[in-house]
Amino acid sequence: MADPVTLYEVGPRDGLQNEAQPVATADKIHLIALLTKAGLTHIEATAFVSPKWVPQMADASAVMAGISPREGIVYAALTPNLKGYARAKAAGVTEVAVFAAASEGFSKANLNASIAESLERFAPVAASAAEDGITLRGYVSCVADCPYDGPTPPAAVARVTRALFGLGCREVSLGDTTGKGRPEGIDAMLAAVLEVASPERLAGHYHDTAGHALENVVVSLERGLRVFDTAAGGLGGCPYAPGAAGNVATEAVAALLSERGHPTGIDLERLDAAARFAKSLRSSR
Ligand code: HMG
Ligand code: MG
Repeated sequence: MADPVTLYEVGPRDGLQNEAQPVATADKIHLIALLTKAGLTHIEATAFVSPKWVPQMADASAVMAGISPREGIVYAALTPNLKGYARAKAAGVTEVAVFAAASEGFSKANLNASIAESLERFAPVAASAAEDGITLRGYVSCVADCPYDGPTPPAAVARVTRALFGLGCREVSLGDTTGKGRPEGIDAMLAAVLEVASPERLAGHYHDTAGHALENVVVSLERGLRVFDTAAGGLGGCPYAPGAAGNVATEAVAALLSERGHPTGIDLERLDAAARFAKSLRSSR
């Protein structure tokens, strides 16, 4: 049998952060409950970011408070700074993520900071997480292409990945934010990153803007990655990446993995119910 693969569900955060119409807190909590029932073990529930920047995530504390946690399931959240970290800790979050970019243009648009400044800002978050026993995950955005700076050199991705591991991240997720990555480009990017990190500590985070996300998952599997960020119903986008379409759909990746013999622990029928509910939350844009 092929290796087990973990799907890290990001729909409630990466999916819903981009919705034009507000999504009710109760609906976010219901989606998380359906995903839990479907067997997802890692669910990024929300983001403790500035509500001025991303009003869709302003109810982060209420979302966390509404989850009925199931033993062994990780409910994670984004924390861009100490303020977000303090809110996440108060809400009982056990895994937080800091998010850097491989391109200066996106770093400025998403975090109002250069890459170096963002890493400086993450250092006290990482130190607090280590002290509090909270797991730290890292993201690198724009691993293939940046909406502001154009194609991203693989060496830039490797540099930021190494810096995030240096801060103490357990895992680093490689984000094709714009979905422009093609399998050959993703493969070249992974080759550079694998010079500085081992595949079992990396995740692939592919947006499906141009319809290449599943192929990008396949090249990543071949490179040894065993964690993929996905969103039920293909929800998603990024408020600071114009045109970024949904994350690759959890149900599409689960089906692909099942065909290839990789166990995921996911119940496909229950996942279908979660995906249908996720799609019903989409604004008609
Ligand atoms: P800033 O404006 O430079 O920061 O934003 P600031 O410190 O001047 O704060 C501005 C205001 O926000 C202040 O309020 C702060 O208190 C408040 P005021 O004094 O004006 O009343 N504030 C906060 N409030 C609550 N929680 C916080 C927080 N921080 C500040 N944590 C900042 C800098 C980093 C805060 C801002 O740029 C931000 O929140 N950015 C987040 C943007 C975001 O969430 N983007 C989407 C996620 S990334 C993504 O989708 C990519 C990914 O999926 C991977 C991929 O696809 O590539 C991960
Ligand atoms: Mg994303």
